[in-house]
Amino acid sequence: MNKSQKLLEEIPKAIYFDDKDRFFILDQTKLPTQEIIEEQTNIEQVYDSIYQLKTRGAPAIGIAGAYGLVISLKKYVDLDLESFVKQVLKNASYLNSSRPTAVNLSWALDKLSKLATDFPKDKSVKELYSTLRDEAVAIHTSDIFTCRQIGINGANLIKEGDGVLTLCNAGALATGGIGTALAPMYVAWSKGIRFKAYSSETRPLLQGARITCWELNKFGIDTTMIADSVSSYLMKLGRVSMIVVGADRVANNGDTANKIGTLSLAVNAKFYGVPFYIACPYSTIDIKSKSGADIVVEERNSEELIYIKGQQIAPKDIKAFNPAFDVTDNSLISGFITEKGIIRPPYNFSK
Ligand code: MRU
Repeated sequence: MNKSQKLLEEIPKAIYFDDKDRFFILDQTKLPTQEIIEEQTNIEQVYDSIYQLKTRGAPAIGIAGAYGLVISLKKYVDLDLESFVKQVLKNASYLNSSRPTAVNLSWALDKLSKLATDFPKDKSVKELYSTLRDEAVAIHTSDIFTCRQIGINGANLIKEGDGVLTLCNAGALATGGIGTALAPMYVAWSKGIRFKAYSSETRPLLQGARITCWELNKFGIDTTMIADSVSSYLMKLGRVSMIVVGADRVANNGDTANKIGTLSLAVNAKFYGVPFYIACPYSTIDIKSKSGADIVVEERNSEELIYIKGQQIAPKDIKAFNPAFDVTDNSLISGFITEKGIIRPPYNFSK
């Protein structure tokens, strides 16, 4: 293994599943001050871990949903096949209700549910359980390769001396591999290309400050954090060569749901002539959503705005609007960096 491969192998991981079918996550709500690995032992705990963003990011919650479903089924392996399949569907539907916007969660759970409903009736529950476990592992493994390929494809866009701005965390901790938006940065840096990364803090839950800065710093990338309100001025100063962010759901026409703040970055990028890229796997593209109007945007509770780490920063009874995501119009997107290459407009993913 050469030095740059070694660097890429050492990137932190969000999710672990061992050969005893035990499932662990890195609790991302504790970053960057504590690195706590927490075993997930029941379905309610997995639901809460996804809802509370202990594990987060579209591909990662797909993988966590799949493993969560598998571990939730361990106690039902003595049921008859028909009752077991019913339990699979019930548990999948419960986990799917934890967060609505990232399509990877329903994508992964639907895959496992379909395997269960199509499973030959003359086979045993234990065989079905193993099939579901193997599929969850396959979803995880394939995400590792997908992220690497997104990194290779996107690294070609980053030149020596560039300034690359990102929002939220679409890094290793949002996926099973080296990330989506951060993957091109990791690959470019490991090839010796020196650029400046800018990480927008990402109010209200600060994934940019807490997680992206932590990840990029660990890797040794020259990283500068900015308050979200600084991004347009940074572009005006000419310090941003490109913006790359992840996606939670991409509609067939390219309209893209991603972390709240993505839309204003894209609008400002258009004004200042800065290329604006979405990095995502094909599993995040939802051709059933014709346009952004079909995407459900998760709205989270007002406490997330009124308190920061338990500290009250606004009147307790103030009204607060707290959408977790926004939808960026396809006309603002320069391209999609995917595992199959860079897709340029006009977008029609069903073709
Ligand atoms: O609320 P989060 O932290 O799950 O939001 C994450 C994002 O918006 C990411 O950009 C997206 O899921 C892509 S992760 C590769």
